[in-house]
Amino acid sequence: MSAAVQPGAAPESVPSTHPRRRIGVAVVGFGWLGQAHSRSMLRIPTLFPDRGFDPELVICADTAPERIDDAVRSFGFARGTVDWRRVVEDPDVDVVVIAAPNMLHVELVEAAAQAGKHVFCEKPVGGTPAQTARAELLTRQAGVITGVGYNYRWAPLVRYAKQQLEAGALGTLTNYRGRFFSMYGADPLGLLSWRFRLDEGGYGVTSDLLSHSVDLAHFLIGPITRLVGTVETFIRERPIAVPGAGHYGRGRAEDPHGEVTNEDYAAVLCEFADGTRGTFEASRAIVGPESQMAFDVYGTDGAMGWNLEDLNRLRHYRRTDDPSSGYTTVYGGDRFPYHGAFVPGAANGIGFEDLIVIEDLEYLRAVVEERPYEVGFAQALDWVSVQAALLNSVETGRWEDVVSLRED
Ligand SMILES: NC(=O)c1ccc[n+]([C@@H]2O[C@H](COP(=O)([O-])OP(=O)(O)OC[C@H]3O[C@@H](n4cnc5c(N)ncnc54)[C@H](O)[C@@H]3O)[C@@H](O)[C@H]2O)c1
Repeated sequence: MSAAVQPGAAPESVPSTHPRRRIGVAVVGFGWLGQAHSRSMLRIPTLFPDRGFDPELVICADTAPERIDDAVRSFGFARGTVDWRRVVEDPDVDVVVIAAPNMLHVELVEAAAQAGKHVFCEKPVGGTPAQTARAELLTRQAGVITGVGYNYRWAPLVRYAKQQLEAGALGTLTNYRGRFFSMYGADPLGLLSWRFRLDEGGYGVTSDLLSHSVDLAHFLIGPITRLVGTVETFIRERPIAVPGAGHYGRGRAEDPHGEVTNEDYAAVLCEFADGTRGTFEASRAIVGPESQMAFDVYGTDGAMGWNLEDLNRLRHYRRTDDPSSGYTTVYGGDRFPYHGAFVPGAANGIGFEDLIVIEDLEYLRAVVEERPYEVGFAQALDWVSVQAALLNSVETGRWEDVVSLRED
């Protein structure tokens, strides 16, 4: 007799060897990253059989009704709303993922934490250093598990680089060069979306791109103790955006223009606690590099470099007397953690959204195991403490110490 399932009949059920807890997920802000996290929740069960939990998409909030419609019809959220308050009141929700414009973050974090929900907030958690410090305090007091979207820490080759650094593969570190160069704001006709406005986005490229670059250095090298820096806004007016427009949208020369009220560019010269010297640059208005989230680290015995534009390759220079010296290429592959869940073999590449899947997997694991998750709001606070020193340095024109903004 055939074992085929007849149409309409329930498929034979196989008892699971992995007991799994249901985790109700809400998403607030269903643009680029809200959708990326939602897709990631849908993909986790298909990629990680040993996960110990099953995410369930419960409710999605966005002020754009067509996005809510898409969340329910295409992604399978049980319900949608234009009022984010319904999310924090929802008894089926365990975790709130915040992917709304930065200046809304803290209000959302506060409401979610007070309702006892765990909170994953996209970086930078708020639009100003003071807001991030408040979010960190509120969630610590509420005792909820926090996560922040510094997803580049999860790139398998970045984790391998950290392992190599910890093993002393580069000898004593001398200097570090971090950068995040993106062309998303290089076109003067690029729309004046929320990212270019202090009232909606908070600070500009420092909050948006430099935060990633410095966070990665915190992960790889450790804390920064002092710095001097500069910022600039190169494109001071842009076509006014229609509601819901993203930062990749384009207007026309004849459209009404409005003022850009935060910075396009930032540069930092700094010292790390271990004595390593560092430089960082970030620009959203540069012509040439398209999405160069990259680092180079140099030591007495070698060097390493990685770049998001080429995320499946790590460059490694080993000091040697051999005349055929030079950088070698380490290809990504299933010999590195997580990579094999997406694609087997070596040099078959993974992509940007796969890093979001890994961070959501690890965040939800922490929630199920009721333990802190790194990268949480404590690490977001470490970045804004550096950002505050940079903003001070821009004011004073001098070197400034990095002082923790943690409140008690
Ligand atoms: N980790 C990363 O690599 C990464 C990449 C991009 C963005 N981000 C972060 O993600 C967050 C969102 O950025 P994005 O690029 O997805 O923005 P986006 O503009 O694509 O999406 C934002 C969404 O929020 C919605 N929204 C606005 N006001 C709202 C409100 N009051 N309630 C509910 N929804 C509201 C908008 O309608 C839009 O759909 C930001 O904090 C950003 O810094 C992180």
